[in-house]
Amino acid sequence: MSDFLGIHHLQLKGIRMLSSRLHTLVLFTLIGVFSSFVQANRYEAELDALLAKMTLAEKIGQMNQYNGFWDATGPQPDEGDAKKKYEHLREGLVGSVLNVSGYERVRELQSFVVNESRLGIPLIFGLDVIHGHKTIFPIPLAESASWDMEAIERSARLAAIESSAQGINWTFAPMVDISEDARWGRVAEGAGEDPYLGQHIAVARVNGFQGDDLSAVDTIAACAKHFAGYGFAEGGRDYNRVDVSPYTLHNTILPPFEAAVKADVKTIMNAFNTLNGIPASGSEYLQRDILKGKWGFQGFVVSDWASIKEMVDHSFATNNEHAAALAVKAGSDMDMEGYAYVNHLESLVREGKVDEKLIDDAARRILRVKMELGLFEDPYKYTDKTREAEALYHPSHLAAARDMAKRSIVLLKNEKRLLPLNKNQQKIAVIGPLAADNNSVLGTWRVSSDDHSAVSLVDGLKQYSNHFTYEQGVKFSIGEEAFSQHIIANTTDRTGIAEAVALAKESDVVVMMLGEHGFQSGEGRSRSNIQLPGLQQELLEEVYAANNNIILLVASGRPLDLSWADAHIPTIVQTWQLGTESGNAIADVLFGEYNPSGKLPMSFPRNVGQLPTTYRQLSTGRSTPKDNVFWSHYTDIESDPLYPFGHGLSYTDFKYSKLKVKTLKDNRVKISVKVKNTGKYEGEEVVQLYLRDRVASTVRPVKELKGFKKILLSAGESQKVEFVLTEKEMGFYNAKGEFLLEDGDFDVMVGGGSIDGLTDRFTL
Ligand code: BGC
Repeated sequence: MSDFLGIHHLQLKGIRMLSSRLHTLVLFTLIGVFSSFVQANRYEAELDALLAKMTLAEKIGQMNQYNGFWDATGPQPDEGDAKKKYEHLREGLVGSVLNVSGYERVRELQSFVVNESRLGIPLIFGLDVIHGHKTIFPIPLAESASWDMEAIERSARLAAIESSAQGINWTFAPMVDISEDARWGRVAEGAGEDPYLGQHIAVARVNGFQGDDLSAVDTIAACAKHFAGYGFAEGGRDYNRVDVSPYTLHNTILPPFEAAVKADVKTIMNAFNTLNGIPASGSEYLQRDILKGKWGFQGFVVSDWASIKEMVDHSFATNNEHAAALAVKAGSDMDMEGYAYVNHLESLVREGKVDEKLIDDAARRILRVKMELGLFEDPYKYTDKTREAEALYHPSHLAAARDMAKRSIVLLKNEKRLLPLNKNQQKIAVIGPLAADNNSVLGTWRVSSDDHSAVSLVDGLKQYSNHFTYEQGVKFSIGEEAFSQHIIANTTDRTGIAEAVALAKESDVVVMMLGEHGFQSGEGRSRSNIQLPGLQQELLEEVYAANNNIILLVASGRPLDLSWADAHIPTIVQTWQLGTESGNAIADVLFGEYNPSGKLPMSFPRNVGQLPTTYRQLSTGRSTPKDNVFWSHYTDIESDPLYPFGHGLSYTDFKYSKLKVKTLKDNRVKISVKVKNTGKYEGEEVVQLYLRDRVASTVRPVKELKGFKKILLSAGESQKVEFVLTEKEMGFYNAKGEFLLEDGDFDVMVGGGSIDGLTDRFTL
C-alpha cells in the first residue's frame, strides 16, 4: 500500500529479501549466468566464421522469407514472381520459406538451395502448425478451457512430431495474444482473456513444440505471436488500430510474451496492428527496448505476412524502401513475403542509411536458430520418408486428440441434469447442421489436415447408442467461397425445420448441435453479431416449442451470445471446434464416459454490446448498484457476463471449505483449501485462486487469477489444495513497465470459478 506521501516500500522490501536469501541468490545467479553464457556462446565462433564468409546480399538473404511455390525441381518458371524467387533461392537470397511441407517437397527445395547456392545455407521451413498438423486438436481457445498444462503441452508435442515428419522445423505458434473481445475472430487461436492463464499456456505450448532438445528430429522452433497488442484491435475488427494504456500493455498484453521468452521460445512474430500509433513491425520500443533489451531475447523476430511493407499503407513509411529501413532499425529480423528487405536493404546499407551491424545481428540471430535446430549438421534431418509415413494420424495421436478434446469441453448449464445420457433408455433426437459435420469442427488454421477428416457427432454417438435419429433441421450455409472461405449463411431455406420439429416431438431428449462454421472464426473473421448464424436460432426456438428437453451443444470459435438459450434451454455444453476426434469426444462426455472438467478461458457476454469485457475489471468510483441510474452499468442488461471466466460445471459437485491464509517469510503467502467431491461421480475440478490488491499506486483489478490447480477426486473424496503466492503474483507493473510490490491488504478468493468462492484477507 502506498503511504500518504506516495512512497512505496518496494526498496525496503527488496533489501530485506536480499539479506535473508543472499547466499542462495548469488549462487543461483552465478550458475544461471554461467549456463546462459555457455549456451549463448556455443555457436558464436561458428557464426563468426560463417558471417565472415557471407556477402552483404547473402546476409540480407537470410532475412528474407518467401511463401511456398512450385516444385523446385520441376520446370523452371520463366516469368514473374516465381522466376524471381527461384533465382533468389539459387543466389542465396532466401533464408526461409513458409507453406512448403511434405517430405518430398521439402527435401527437393532444401537440396536445391544446399547444392545450388554459393554457401549452401539450409532453409528453415515455417508453417502454421496451430492446433495439430494432420491430426487436428481442438482450437487453441478450446484447449485453453482444459486448464490442463500437461495435455496442452502434449498436444503441441504431437503436432511437432507430425509436422517435423513432413519437413517442418518452425511453427508460427503459439499465438499468445490476450483478448477481451469475442468479435475478434482470432480469439479462436489464443488462450482467452487472462494473462496469468495465458502465460502458463504459452509456456506449455512452447515447451511442447521445442521439447528439451531443439536439435532432435521431432522438435521444432516455436514462435510467440503477434507482438504486440493484436488482441486489442478496436471494435474487434481484425488488423485494426490498438490504442491501449501502458498499464494494459505491461500487465495484460506483455506477460505471456515474456513467459514465452523465459521458456526460451526461439522466435517472435510481430503484428499487423499499430500500437498506440506505431505499427508493431516498426516499433523500436517493442522489439528493441522491451524484447531484445529488457528481456534479453536471443532468437529472431519475423514480421507478419507483408507487415513491413504494410507500414506504407499505415502511412508510417513513404515506400517499401523506407519501410525496410524503419523495420530493420526497429528490430524486425525477417521479412515474411514482403520483398522490402530483399529489394532495398542492400542499397540502404551501401548508401549509409542502415548500419550493416543491424544486418549482421539479424542474420546471426536467424543462423543461430538454424544451428540450434541442427540444420547445418544435416539439412535433411526433417525429411525422412519412413517417419512421415508412420507419424501422420498415428493412433496414439488420435487417442491424445480425443483426450484433449474431452478436456476442452465446458458444461455451461445442466439444470434438469439431462446429462449424462443413459445408454439404454432414451429415444434421442439429434438435430442441427453441425451434428453431422465432419469438416467445420476442424476449426480455423488446419492448413495440413485433410478436409472432412473429423469424426462428426453423429458418427461419434454410434459407439454409445442406436436409439438416436438425426435431422439436419436447417442447412448451415448456402455457399462457401473456397478461397476466401467466406460463409454465406442460409437465411432462407427452412425446408428441414418441420421434420426436425416432428422428430423432437416424438423423442425423450433432443441433442442439438448449433454454432459457427469453422471458418467463421480465425483471421479476418471478425463478427459484429455473435448470435447463432443463419436460421439456427429459429430452428432452436421451434424445436424448443415441441420438446424442451434440449441439450444444446455449441460449436464455435469464440464466445457466442447465448442469452436466449440460457433463459430457456436446460442444458448447454460449449464444444468449440474440437478437431479430428470431435464427435468421439463429445459422445464420451454426453454419455458420462468422461465427466466434463473444462472452465471458460474467456467470458461469454450477455450480448455483443457488452464487449469488450473481462472479469478483471477495475473498480470505478461508481461500481456499487444504486437506486438511481448514476452508477456504472447498462440500463438494458445486467453488467456481468452471462457465463464468466473460469465457469464450468461437472456431473458431480465440489464443496470448498477451510480456506487458510498464512503469511510466510520473504513475502510469500501460503493458501490452502479443502475441496470435497460431494456428488456421485469421479470428477476433475480446477481450483482457482484470485487476488485483489485493495489499495495500490495504480488501481488494481477487482480480482485477478493468480493460481490454479486441476485435481481429480473420486466420489466422496477430499483433498487439501495448497498455493504459495510469491512477489510475482502479488506485484504489478506501473506505466513505465517497472515491477512493483506494494505493502497492504490483499483479498483472496478461492473457488471453482471467478464469481463464487471462499474469501479471506491478508496483509503484506
Ligand atoms: C497471420 C499469421 C500467420 C502468417 C503466416 C498471417 O496472415 O497473421 O498469424 O502466421 O499469416 O501464415
